Amino acid sequence: MYFIANWKMFGDLTTLNSLDKVIKFSKNIKKNKIKLIYCPPSTLIRPLSKRLKKTKIEVGAQNCHYSYDTGAYTGQVNTRMLKSVGAKYVIIGHSENRQLGDNDKLINLKIRSATRAGLKVIFCIGETLEQKKNKKTNYVLANQIKNGLKSIKNKSNIIVAYEPVWSIGSGLIPKSDELIKSIAYIKSKLGNKFIKILYGGSVNSNNVDKLKIITGIDGFLIGGASQNSNKFIDIIKKTIN
Ligand code: 13P
Repeated sequence: MYFIANWKMFGDLTTLNSLDKVIKFSKNIKKNKIKLIYCPPSTLIRPLSKRLKKTKIEVGAQNCHYSYDTGAYTGQVNTRMLKSVGAKYVIIGHSENRQLGDNDKLINLKIRSATRAGLKVIFCIGETLEQKKNKKTNYVLANQIKNGLKSIKNKSNIIVAYEPVWSIGSGLIPKSDELIKSIAYIKSKLGNKFIKILYGGSVNSNNVDKLKIITGIDGFLIGGASQNSNKFIDIIKKTIN
């Protein structure tokens, strides 16, 4: 099972001290039972990867620029730069970035750049509340998958995170039967049964019992609850026990 912490725009150097608990906890978990990944703001990738060097915990970035080459892109960071400071993963297509202008074409270019740089991609997809109400969920998911993964033949470095936009930060999660259907639909559209599928959106230690039994879910992408080490550990414990 994957447990990926997406810290979003939270955290500074002092926040890293709070990870000591998680590091200690991770040492007692059997190898290969879980994959723990932290995606902090890019300012923390280097210090965090140094700190986690002797642990099984890996580090990822939350976004990247689409250009594989360096260039005159003020404020941007490309995939090779992220890799050079210790990132092994990168989140691409998060709805918070889609809202800021990331469209399927840009997302596709970012994914290509990331795989070329040797990063694993956490590719986020999900419908808005309006799309859900209009029964467009499958249509939206199919298009995001088709366009986002266009011409990407080797999908071995892709992990898909299904994050319904209405569920992010709202405390709401999909009904189990809806989630089972969406996960199965995503799997059918990926056409590759080996691609891991994660769920994200308001995951916490109270609802994870319901979520972990959903067929086809290989782990969780966790926002708010991942910033608190105790809450994050509780989610992991409840999932694997
Ligand atoms: P929350 O867990 O805070 O709802 O965030 C989910 C998310 O966006 C993870 O990428």
